Amino acid sequence: MAGGFSAYPGTRDFFPEEMRVRQWMFDCQQSVCESYGYEPYGAPILELMDLYRQKSSEEIVNEQLYSFIDRGEREVAIRPEMTPTVARMVVARSARLQRPVRWYSIANFMRYERPGRGRLREFYQLNVDLLGASGMLADAEVLCLAVALMQSYGARRDQFVIRINHRSLYDTFFADLSVDLKLLGRLLDKREKLTAENFARELKELGLDDREEARVKEYLDLDREKLKSLDSPAARELSILLDYLGDTDAAESVVFDPGIMRGFDYYTGLIFEVNDCHPENKRALFGGGRYDALLKQMGGPDWPAVGFGMGDVTLENFLRSHDLLPAAGNRSGFFFASLEAELDLENQRLADKLRPAVPVEFYLGGRSKFGKQLELAEKKGYRYVLLRGSTEKAEGNVALKDLTTGKQESLPLEGLAAALKARC
Ligand code: HAM
Repeated sequence: MAGGFSAYPGTRDFFPEEMRVRQWMFDCQQSVCESYGYEPYGAPILELMDLYRQKSSEEIVNEQLYSFIDRGEREVAIRPEMTPTVARMVVARSARLQRPVRWYSIANFMRYERPGRGRLREFYQLNVDLLGASGMLADAEVLCLAVALMQSYGARRDQFVIRINHRSLYDTFFADLSVDLKLLGRLLDKREKLTAENFARELKELGLDDREEARVKEYLDLDREKLKSLDSPAARELSILLDYLGDTDAAESVVFDPGIMRGFDYYTGLIFEVNDCHPENKRALFGGGRYDALLKQMGGPDWPAVGFGMGDVTLENFLRSHDLLPAAGNRSGFFFASLEAELDLENQRLADKLRPAVPVEFYLGGRSKFGKQLELAEKKGYRYVLLRGSTEKAEGNVALKDLTTGKQESLPLEGLAAALKARC
């Protein structure tokens, strides 16, 4: 490491080239959310600790929260997720909000986790939430939006899968079990990370007898057909949703998986997780579900809600592994090179005239050779370079070089801004 300090473990600095990738990922999210009529919102990074007690997951509250006592003796926490915050905000304004509320945000969060592939201590999350609408249409909208997001990155159907389940399916299926259902749920949640032997051992440790173990197996063997024969409202809801999705774009991406648990206590209905099919990326790409009781529990109206959180770390891993990140050279705008020192002042003025229409970076690096300037423009991610020497000046033109094709063309000064804008 050059210099004495490094970033706090599990966090990232975003240098401009990383920032470009991040911004591109966020731009796709923004445009898909807005195409579904979702509006952006924002919130503070600090919340009163009480917001998370009983309203988030036990694991997050007990092991992952960054919390401290502020100078006014208040117990505060850095937000580990957005759902309690969005619920708090909607409760505060519910009398004035038009239902259903369709909101999205892209924000940073902190959880004290062991950093590793797909897991950091600071990460960004797109949160998409639909509040005040119940039923299959709302669930289907959120799932279709999730698929549209993946498609906006160019993801193919065989590269990701959305696995859905219903919180009550699990609760009713195991209603007569003597063991702690929360502990069993946690074990089912992590079973894909365990070997078959370790999973069986941990089941035994929970105290399940043979009949109960067989029941767990029966549960994990449930599929769409068996779901139809179950006498439970949750099974019926899921079957109807899956049949309905069968007629949409999402059909091939959504499958039923009884093993999906989700760690948050606030989920009440549909729960889902999106997985990357690339073998290197074992962590869920994103996840969410229906949380119909949370707003009421927080003293608000009895509004149902459904949504999901998509993390930037897992998303970037997905995009890299499947070669879906845009190639370098994705920087919009123009690099204005310097051919002759005598023309720098004039050219700088020309750059100023172009700027209301297009971004222009003017070369100020001294008298480097032209080839070096082109290298610099390429490293900075530009595709186009502008050139104006005495020949171009005499002809009333500016030359435009395309670094991806190597081709150069002459553009007249007249109408130059519009011609460049068309290439952005
Ligand atoms: P979550 O499953 O905890 O759900 O997080 C959703 C996504 O955020 C994960 O799938 C992952 O992409 C990303 N994520 C979470 N923790 C980390 C981490 N330590 N490092 C990197 N990425 C991470 C929730 O947060 C729910 N509040 C989502 C939700 C919104 N449910 C309804 N609305």
